Amino acid sequence: AAAGVPAAAETAQPAAPPRAAEPLTILFASESGNSEKLAGDIAKLARKNGFKPRVVDFADLDVASLAREKRLVAIAATWGEGEPPARAVRAYGELLGDGAPRLEGVEFGVLSLGDTSYAEFCAVGKRLDARLEELGARRVLPRVDCDLDFDAPAAAWIKDALKALTPAEPAGNVVSVDFARAAGAEAEEAELSREPVTVEVIEHVNLNSSRSDKETIHLALAFEDGAPAYEPGDSLELYPENDPALVDEILAATGLQGDAALRQALLAERDVTTLSAATIERFVKATGHVEARRLIDSGEARAWIEGRHLIDLIETYPAALTAQHLADITRPLPPRAYSIASSRREVGDEAHLTIAAVRYATHGRDRAGVASVHVADRIRTGARLRVRMKPNKHFRLPKDPATDIIMVGPGTGVAPFRAFVQERRASEAPGRSWLFFGDRHFTHDFLYQLEWQEALEDRSLTRIDVAFSRDQPEKVYVQDRLWERRREVVEWLEGGAHLYVCGDAKAMAKDVRATLVRAYADVRGLAPEAAEAAVAGLERNHRYQQDVY
Ligand code: 2AM
Repeated sequence: AAAGVPAAAETAQPAAPPRAAEPLTILFASESGNSEKLAGDIAKLARKNGFKPRVVDFADLDVASLAREKRLVAIAATWGEGEPPARAVRAYGELLGDGAPRLEGVEFGVLSLGDTSYAEFCAVGKRLDARLEELGARRVLPRVDCDLDFDAPAAAWIKDALKALTPAEPAGNVVSVDFARAAGAEAEEAELSREPVTVEVIEHVNLNSSRSDKETIHLALAFEDGAPAYEPGDSLELYPENDPALVDEILAATGLQGDAALRQALLAERDVTTLSAATIERFVKATGHVEARRLIDSGEARAWIEGRHLIDLIETYPAALTAQHLADITRPLPPRAYSIASSRREVGDEAHLTIAAVRYATHGRDRAGVASVHVADRIRTGARLRVRMKPNKHFRLPKDPATDIIMVGPGTGVAPFRAFVQERRASEAPGRSWLFFGDRHFTHDFLYQLEWQEALEDRSLTRIDVAFSRDQPEKVYVQDRLWERRREVVEWLEGGAHLYVCGDAKAMAKDVRATLVRAYADVRGLAPEAAEAAVAGLERNHRYQQDVY
């Protein structure tokens, strides 16, 4: 044997000629980043298993090009009432529309993410799955619809998808790939980088005046072992605990008082609020409750669920439940994500959050947002909380610190802009920054008012326009201010400014976008279609970014 060549090399069978890597396109439609992260996980695993993966954001998708794909994996999130993520709206519409290409010859699988607390659970994934088949593509594995705790079902689906998409090997040349192990290792790696950590609450302040009808908590959290490397625009997931009074009501209604271990599990680990069609199904399965079954069979369950929670179900349909039943009926308590309101360059090993307490009443019962009211009522300075980083690379300051920014953030939507302004101050960024803020009343609800004044003085904030909706007879909103200032807004944007919108997705973000289209039309004398194209162009170039909820 020649020196240096291991003996085994001489005796080994000639290796099978390496198979050319199989192209695999991984499409994702993501709002908060979960689908995008899964797309990345699939790509890594696919590469290890002989594919040549390409990850494509729906935001950038050329729908006509889908006809050229061989293999397609789509991960689609559903948002709000059955809607696609904002950035995916255009391509999703084209795919469902008449101009969509035929897809014979394409193999595909769909994984959908959603939230069972919404009636239109996983609607986007379901429609996409049906549409791809309708266009002639061949489904190689069943769709899986994931709830908020998607880690395990998504990992299992990914493994199955890659197996199903692997081309059959010619006889005698079978390469066995251990998908299970690979998937496990990937999942582990991804999880490690985002592991929950415990932080100490070092500041807990109500930003509203005591006479406000709102309560917005400013929370400063200290990381003992150094803050994770977050960027302005990122979010932090907070693991809440349930209201002990609600847990006790549930225990009383089910006759399970006195089970201390169950009480603790219901407090910290199970979602004891959300009521979905799936919850009622599981309740009926566990209890065999005849009237609850009738509610489902009558088709009226959906309407009944509206404004109701688990406690309403248990009290309306009394049944002897075991601890196991309760565990089976409920889903794991999901963490809640909040936009980080601080820059590490200014606050060091801390992260700040701006959390509005959600309180309302339906069906004669007071209701409370699980995480926000936990923070408002049961967390104080000195308390500990479990949190986990949630990066958001689609909400980022411009790379060039000289680029101007326009920020639209009413209510708690202002949180990431506090981080943006802190970052620009700490880095002495020369770009101009303009904030549109709105809330109900100037005297009670001007969140971080003193800080904005300081920022104007040190020039980390160039301008602020405010809209206090209830200080006059007619409502005034941030988009009204945007409209009044439309000439300068369009000038800033044409000069290269980036626009950011954070806050309410249902009404505010849509109204702001529509106002911007009208502004372009008015200022530049454009037809509505041309004005729409101008705004769409900003979005395509990532100069119009949203963080909405
Ligand atoms: P309102 O509660 O008086 O209707 C923060 O919550 C601020 O956003 C409040 O002033 C609220 O006004 C306002 N707001 C409500 N709906 C809005 C919309 N569609 N667009 C912009 N702002 C809105």
